[in-house]
Amino acid sequence: MFWLVLVYYDIIVVMKILAIESSCDETAAAVVEDGVQILSNVVVSQVDIFAAYGGVIPEVAARSHLEAILPVIEKALSDAGLTKEGIDAIAVTHTPGLLGSLLIGTLTARMLAILWGKPLYAVHHLKSHIYANWLNSGNCVEKPLYFSGHDVVPARRCGCRASSSSAVASGDSRKAQCLSTQLPEFPLLALVVSGGHTQIIYMRGHNQFEIIGTTRDDAVGECFDKVAKILGLPYPGGPAIDKCALQGNPKAYKLPHPQVEGLDFSFSGLKTAVLRAVQAECGLPITTPSYELKKHLTEQQGADFAASFQYTACEILAEKLKMALRDHQEAKSLVVAGGVSASAALRKKVTESLSEASGGKLKVYFPELKFSGDNAAMVGAAAYFEVISGVEPTDPYTLSIAPRTAITD
Ligand code: KG4
Ligand code: ZN
Repeated sequence: MFWLVLVYYDIIVVMKILAIESSCDETAAAVVEDGVQILSNVVVSQVDIFAAYGGVIPEVAARSHLEAILPVIEKALSDAGLTKEGIDAIAVTHTPGLLGSLLIGTLTARMLAILWGKPLYAVHHLKSHIYANWLNSGNCVEKPLYFSGHDVVPARRCGCRASSSSAVASGDSRKAQCLSTQLPEFPLLALVVSGGHTQIIYMRGHNQFEIIGTTRDDAVGECFDKVAKILGLPYPGGPAIDKCALQGNPKAYKLPHPQVEGLDFSFSGLKTAVLRAVQAECGLPITTPSYELKKHLTEQQGADFAASFQYTACEILAEKLKMALRDHQEAKSLVVAGGVSASAALRKKVTESLSEASGGKLKVYFPELKFSGDNAAMVGAAAYFEVISGVEPTDPYTLSIAPRTAITD
């Protein structure tokens, strides 16, 4: 049941959302309560299928979603200990993404919303990635948030049971800490780094998005994937580079920073720079195709290239974030979102540089690792914050999908 309760002058919205995500190659469903509390989170990844091909094949992805979607939703409900009666709303990713993949998730959500008579919320994929930073899989099981207008006000009367929970009993003080005071605060800067997007977004409050920087060509995740191919590393390239770079020297090869004005990015030149540097290092002509290069590289050279590329990509991102902070010194938080936010090197670089640039004032947030990549819990979080921002449910009979759409309020 979906209820609004007036507590003094604040409103608590109590809401359990069944969320569905199928924009690329993960079929996912989750139940999220009040935007932060995960009751269940099921992700079936197709990564093993596509490892053999070195990338996603859209038609295969759509067929795999079709096979997985209903069992995944059933499991999300049963893991949450709920039936359809216990769900207040349904949320689904409807843009951006692969058309066939989006279609399976949205058609399923539309059908369930109609059959079960539940409100349906259509969520933008990048919003979801940003709101992954609000998810809490810790022990803070009873954590109402108090809202005045659109801003989260730190809970004055947190109902968090963490301090008396099993976390304390087990001596785990980190988990026992009440997380409600650790949520990102507005205004904030968000860095979205995924396979398809690289953007800096300014948020004055919940569900208010202003894109202040974007890539003019490749996304940084795409660049990680392409450089991994040049180095003969497996798909997906980001985690493979992250691991391989641990053995390498990040200063071994000097790679160029693209000269793009303002807060925009360009990553296609960096990918080509790695290709040319590998060809030169191996004494090969520039016509040598990338799939030929691996056999000419020693293991150490490969690791040095992975580390040097990763170091340069992280420097570029951190530099632009510092510029964004100079323009928005009022920002209280920085949230990093999207698949590349799993990068250990990026986490370190961004935390160090931005903390230093802000004199320790800016709080830097990353999603828990399991919420960095595509999942449905983040869709449930984003939908909840749309609800409390006054967004109306969508019409389940007419909801459409779109492969590319910019994030908007
Ligand atoms: O957000 P995501 O899971 O899917 C999209 O919405 O695109 O992002 C996928 C991207 C891929 O390019 C993948 O290589 C990259 O995130 N990625 C990483 C890491 N884990 C995933 N990049 C760098 N380091 C990682 N550890
Ligand atoms: Zn994503």
